[in-house]
Amino acid sequence: MAFHGKVALVTGAASGMGRLSSRRLAAGGARVAALDVNDAGLRETGGDDERIRPYAVDVTDAPAVAETVRRIEAELGPIDRVMNAAAIMPTERLLNQDADLVNRIMAINYGGTVNVTLAVLPGMLQRGRGDLVNFASVAGWLPTLHFGAYNASKFAVVAFTEVLYHENRNAGVRFACVCPPPVATPLLDQAKSQPKVLDQIPAIAPETVLDAIERDLERGRLMVFPDRNAAWTVWIRRHLPRLLWWNIHRVEGF
Ligand SMILES: NC(=O)c1ccc[n+]([C@@H]2O[C@H](COP(=O)([O-])OP(=O)(O)OC[C@H]3O[C@@H](n4cnc5c(N)ncnc54)[C@H](O)[C@@H]3O)[C@@H](O)[C@H]2O)c1
Repeated sequence: MAFHGKVALVTGAASGMGRLSSRRLAAGGARVAALDVNDAGLRETGGDDERIRPYAVDVTDAPAVAETVRRIEAELGPIDRVMNAAAIMPTERLLNQDADLVNRIMAINYGGTVNVTLAVLPGMLQRGRGDLVNFASVAGWLPTLHFGAYNASKFAVVAFTEVLYHENRNAGVRFACVCPPPVATPLLDQAKSQPKVLDQIPAIAPETVLDAIERDLERGRLMVFPDRNAAWTVWIRRHLPRLLWWNIHRVEGF
């Protein structure tokens, strides 16, 4: 991965795939603006690597995001790559989650993606170059018990990114909508109600996801399914949704 002289903005950079992306982009020669609400985690991501600069910001705060983007472009230069990875994933039956939590999941996972995209993409389009990578999930295609609020937020990311791509294709900017199955990162620890379906699907390595993103950006593929299982699950959802629901009810026991 060669990113010499380029500038990347990564959200969710204090953990998981955001952290790994930040380190990989920096190792490829980019200057990385690492964004997260977790200040201590951000410092750990960068360590003593001066190419990774922490910006503590809540992605749900649109004016703060816009101001942070202005600062990054003033300090590091125009942004060439965005990785929108910030998210939360508390799981529970919908009626056991209060409205504030359901709305907060949407505000971070979808609203945060919107806020960063709207702050960065116009500049990329003006320059006629850049990569916009939005993290959705297989959960953005396949609704399942306990994941309703997270599902809704990821369905929204898929729709937003697909339309955005079609409204701006052939303008020099590459788009990717990343749809992984479970990935071995701290996010999975938030699955408090322990949906049993998670035991059925082995978590893949975060490196596999990041490799798939680079490969599919090169190939010009919008939807990134990092492994066969992810693509297969989406195929079954499209063609055999009742079979999937039958299996989900059987596994979860209700
Ligand atoms: N891990 C998985 O199983 C999996 C599967 C499919 C998709 N994804 C998606 O991949 C992306 C990366 O997930 P991960 O597994 O690395 O998660 P993670 O939990 O390891 O990291 C998420 C980061 O987002 C940050 N964050 C949360 N709220 C924020 C806010 N309001 N503002 C700024 N930062 C905030 C957290 O502090 C954390 O550092 C997410 O969009 C996630 O939904 C993950």
